[in-house]
Amino acid sequence: MRVARGFAAALLLTALSLAACAAAHAQSAGEWTSSAQLWRDTCRYCHEGKLAPELRGAGLAAQAIAGAVRHGPGAMPSFAPSAISDRDLEQLAAWIRAQPKPVPPQTDESERMPRHETRQRIR
Ligand code: HEC
Repeated sequence: MRVARGFAAALLLTALSLAACAAAHAQSAGEWTSSAQLWRDTCRYCHEGKLAPELRGAGLAAQAIAGAVRHGPGAMPSFAPSAISDRDLEQLAAWIRAQPKPVPPQTDESERMPRHETRQRIR
């Protein structure tokens, strides 16, 4: 359990430094060209994996999204207006709200199906 926690903490630290890079990038670039790009560069690393809750298709209010970004709940880093402007954040929240719930693991169907069938036959 302690080892697993340590591993999760290491993952989060890696993610945090990546997020810091993304924020630095944003500062030099001024603005992102799109919400999709902002998501890809800044949020996806944590929010499209096991590190953080799934936001797409989660029905979160725009204010809840903006609040989380500014204040950084729990292990999430916060992002100041210098990193993500109010306008970008507003658009990002709307973009996240418009995303469909993602379909689970995109493994290669042709590889996955036979193994699944074998398992069922054994059972
Ligand atoms: C370093 C990883 C990391 C990054 C980068 C990150 N988040 Fe998070 N986020 C988290 C974690 C972890 C939580 C869960 C915090 C808790 O409740 O303990 C969270 C929670 C949230 C929540 C609240 C979810 C809920 O169900 O209430 C929202 C909204 C959110 N993040 C939005 C974003 C957005 C938008 C971005 C990009 C600008 C972003 N996050 C970037 C790690 C991250």
